[in-house]
Amino acid sequence: MVKVRFLGHAAFYLESEGLRALIDPFLTGNPMAESGPEEFLDVNYIFVTHGHRDHIGDTVEIARASGATVISNFELSNLFQNAGLNCHPMHVGGVFQFPFGRVKMTTAIHGSDVEIEGKLVPGGNPGGFLLGLEGKKIYHAGDTGLTSDMQLLEIEKVDVALLPIGGNFTMDVTDAVRAVEMIKPRIVVPIHYNTFELIKADPWEFKDKLPDQVRTEILEVGQSLEI
Ligand code: NI
Ligand code: MN
Repeated sequence: MVKVRFLGHAAFYLESEGLRALIDPFLTGNPMAESGPEEFLDVNYIFVTHGHRDHIGDTVEIARASGATVISNFELSNLFQNAGLNCHPMHVGGVFQFPFGRVKMTTAIHGSDVEIEGKLVPGGNPGGFLLGLEGKKIYHAGDTGLTSDMQLLEIEKVDVALLPIGGNFTMDVTDAVRAVEMIKPRIVVPIHYNTFELIKADPWEFKDKLPDQVRTEILEVGQSLEI
């Protein structure tokens, strides 16, 4: 069984055979988060979609303490390696078979620079992750605008799509509905909304606008989905 636990904003904890992982672990300073980094010191992988602070979050601290391997784009991987972390660099469009499952990095239309000591450092291209775990497919879109590339995900037969709906920096509700029409996932979970003033959105409006055959799961912080 694959467990997908929402930690607030775009952060998730994933558990499946051979995998205890975080995605975009923005916990410290996340107004929505109810868990701290200390709860995740036994993770073995951390996925980072792009270099923005609300996605890198506590990656360095947790990876240092746990020894987890950080999976990110090549440019972020270099920065994480310089910080002494174990890394597995990938890039957009690339697929790799890990011991726990298959990982594909997907495109995202966004930025990825990293703020280091008050300066912005290039963080490569932003992405998302398509994870194949125990025969199930989970897609974390990262931060992205609507893009026709999402049509390519239909052939992957996504079980769970974690999609931003907050607008301003990413898709809003209207565009996220169009994304669902392209991806055709079995289950959709709205993410990246209501954390800050600029990304206010109503997940129930999103649910109402989606076709009936799509199961929408509006997860409370701390709540898990088991598939
Ligand atoms: Ni971002
Ligand atoms: Mn973000």
